[in-house]
Amino acid sequence: MAAHFIHLTDSHLFPDATHDFAAPKLLTRSREILDAVVPQINALNPEFIVHGGDLVCGGDAFEMAPSAYVEAIQESADRFSKLQAPLYVIPGNHDCDPVTGSFDAFYERFSVPEVLTVSDVSPGLRLARVNVYPSNPMENVNGEWTRAHDDALREASAKALKERTAILLVLHTWVLEGRRDADGTPLGVIANADRLRSTIAECPAVAVAVFTGHRHRNRISVVQDWLMVDSGALVGFPMGFRELWLKDDGYFITRFHTLNRPDLVQASYDRSEPEANKISEGEEPDRNAEILLPRLRALWK
Ligand SMILES: [Fe+2]
Ligand SMILES: [Fe+2]
Repeated sequence: MAAHFIHLTDSHLFPDATHDFAAPKLLTRSREILDAVVPQINALNPEFIVHGGDLVCGGDAFEMAPSAYVEAIQESADRFSKLQAPLYVIPGNHDCDPVTGSFDAFYERFSVPEVLTVSDVSPGLRLARVNVYPSNPMENVNGEWTRAHDDALREASAKALKERTAILLVLHTWVLEGRRDADGTPLGVIANADRLRSTIAECPAVAVAVFTGHRHRNRISVVQDWLMVDSGALVGFPMGFRELWLKDDGYFITRFHTLNRPDLVQASYDRSEPEANKISEGEEPDRNAEILLPRLRALWK
């Protein structure tokens, strides 16, 4: 068995943005960015594509008008419909209505999980997509891992284990802490992250790799015998997406692709100091890696 797919996240479409908002985002060019990425992904011919959330600029912080929010959803869906492989989406905190926090308009155009949805995506491989926003994301931007998530994940893992099938877990917000803000609060981490990590540890079919976006940074971390993969944003530097392979001998391989529009990548890069860009981009092993996954090897051998 083997799989070849794409993890793309934080495309933040804002069709008529009048300014770019916080660096390195390039919201005034978000339409051009989306137009460029679709053929670039199609040329790689993946089996499937996972979008890690924040497709648009709703929620707080972007001052988007509700009508513009609905238009952004339609435009985003229309553009992504040109992807040739199946696209699987999870909601991010910026995919809700900018005034009410409701996801209703988003759910009308994108099929997303209510709690946790499992899909067969490749022989011997299932995708478990998580909705981390059971409550209004404008009140809790980092989302929450609940008992309902725990139960759904344990059930999916038990079933997959019997069928020697691996599960990729995908959620919007970080599971492992990174930098903290001035008062010591970890940034961008899901509520109850410690319980989620314990559950993953107890579910050997689950979390061959866990994919997140939200923090707009590339990072790969080995946690016990599973892998945590955070991908940088599309809408700002490093401005790209991950291509991934799972090999039948249990190897995980990834390569980060920068958008093939050097002018847009440079315009975003120029908005920040080199040190800030370095953090967004990650080190070489955060972008490109080849790692043996013991759980995957055991399931697929
Ligand atoms: Fe984002
Ligand atoms: Fe986010």
